Amino acid sequence: MLWTVSLCLLLAVSSSGVPLDRYSTKGQHKVLLISFDGFRWDYDRDVDTPNLDRMAKDGVKARYVTPPYLTITSPTHFTLLTGRYIENHGVIHNMWFNITTSEKLPYYATQFKNEWWDNGTLPIWITAQRQGLRAGSLHFPGTQSTYQGETQTVKDVEPRFYDYKNETKWRENVEKVMGTWFSEMDLDFVSLYFGEPDGTGHKYGPDSPERREMVKQVDRTVGFIRSLAERNGLADSLNIIITADHGMSNVYRNGLVKEITLSRIPGFSFRDIAFHLVDFGPSGMLLPKEGMLDKVYNALKGANPHLHVFKKEEMPERLHFANNNRILPIILFSDPGYVINGFLPVQFNTGEHGFDNEEMDMKPFFRAVGPVFQKNLEVGPFETVNIYPLMCHILGIKPDPNDGHLDATKHMLISTTEDLRQDIKSNIFVGLAAVAGFLVVVFIALVSFNAFKKETNDRSSEKSLPPGGKEETHQTAL
Ligand SMILES: *[C@@H]1O[C@H](CO)[C@@H](O)[C@H](O)[C@H]1NC(C)=O
Ligand SMILES: *[C@@H]1O[C@H](CO)[C@@H](O)[C@H](O)[C@H]1NC(C)=O
Ligand SMILES: *[C@@H]1O[C@H](CO)[C@@H](O)[C@H](O)[C@H]1NC(C)=O
Ligand SMILES: [Zn+2]
Repeated sequence: MLWTVSLCLLLAVSSSGVPLDRYSTKGQHKVLLISFDGFRWDYDRDVDTPNLDRMAKDGVKARYVTPPYLTITSPTHFTLLTGRYIENHGVIHNMWFNITTSEKLPYYATQFKNEWWDNGTLPIWITAQRQGLRAGSLHFPGTQSTYQGETQTVKDVEPRFYDYKNETKWRENVEKVMGTWFSEMDLDFVSLYFGEPDGTGHKYGPDSPERREMVKQVDRTVGFIRSLAERNGLADSLNIIITADHGMSNVYRNGLVKEITLSRIPGFSFRDIAFHLVDFGPSGMLLPKEGMLDKVYNALKGANPHLHVFKKEEMPERLHFANNNRILPIILFSDPGYVINGFLPVQFNTGEHGFDNEEMDMKPFFRAVGPVFQKNLEVGPFETVNIYPLMCHILGIKPDPNDGHLDATKHMLISTTEDLRQDIKSNIFVGLAAVAGFLVVVFIALVSFNAFKKETNDRSSEKSLPPGGKEETHQTAL
């Protein structure tokens, strides 16, 4: 009996008495999140990329990943940093704007608009720091802003008129992150941003020899990053995730297609519009004047088979781009190949992004390598909202509420220290249970033997016992 009780106690202690200690690896593993702006998932297919290939062999490669809609730079990067869809984190556009004053700020100036970024969702830098880690960011969109009054331990904001393509500068930035930030300052998390191959993809198009050359430069840089990680003794602690914000698609014009120009659509007039964001690619938003919503909507809806027109409340739910006060009442996007012009065509890019995130041309690449990642593993696609919970898991921190799931990415990981510890814990439990079980068997055997002996003794002295005897008692005792 005593043994059975002990066994039960042991079971209880092992299974529920000890907390699972889920985030106990805090501080053991570092994460470097790198974005190469506009690196489409298939850019390594027509270029020799020995360093990216080696990274895939040493780590994990996803076939592609799906960015959130709207597929433009600042919103999708903030999803990488928060794990939230764009309607939920509030950075809904590259441009800050005010519908009352009609002010608009371009991408770079918007980096300095604190209230645009700090809209209730904390990026991973701040979440990590609040849990005792140290974070840095170099040129990543959102780096400049403070969040609820807090900022990264170290940050490098992109200078104005920065030369995105200068490989020497790329190497200087990598040296700073690896040598100074990770190695000397012992940071736990760094986000690192490169503005290419986006610029080249816009200017020359995704199928151009210029884009292929830029992919070679990215590949050399990946090799440089990994060699510096080795040289700085980070190979056992640093996990490197490389991805991008969106892809790139060819735009057709010069008579190849009938261009979409809103002012030329019958029944549509900019006089009915209080504020608009068009002329920067395939997406647009309109705020009609009081009472003009249906007129504007009816004029645009169905006007061009390649122009998709939605009232905010009828946006397809899968796009997660409606439920935010900053999103305007009418949302437009065009099919690949087309951009949306306002008064007259003013856009001359050969490549564009901002299309539906279901379009394959909008999918970025994803690679990961480091001590927690499996080797030589290719996985299926997943949404980029899931990168945030993965990074939190590796860092050993508790994620803030987000739209991602660790289940979508955890098959890329080998057993982490925490898992190993839990394995050991369960092995100890199995071991103890086996020993306990064995002891119970021995106990039963001993008791049976004693009882048998006693019974035999009793039998031998039966005659001396009163009738009725103790036999039943012996039986119940067993
Ligand atoms: C827009 O500008 C108006 C007028 O200056 C101001 O009252 C309002 O707070 C501004 N809104 C935002 C979101 O900045
Ligand atoms: C987010 O920004 C909007 C204005 O664009 C503002 O009305 C709202 O209060 C902000 N929310 C938070 C939590 O900062
Ligand atoms: C690239 O950057 C380096 C270092 O900042 C500078 O010395 C060099 O002149 C730049 N090259 C070009 C082509 O601008
Ligand atoms: Zn971008």
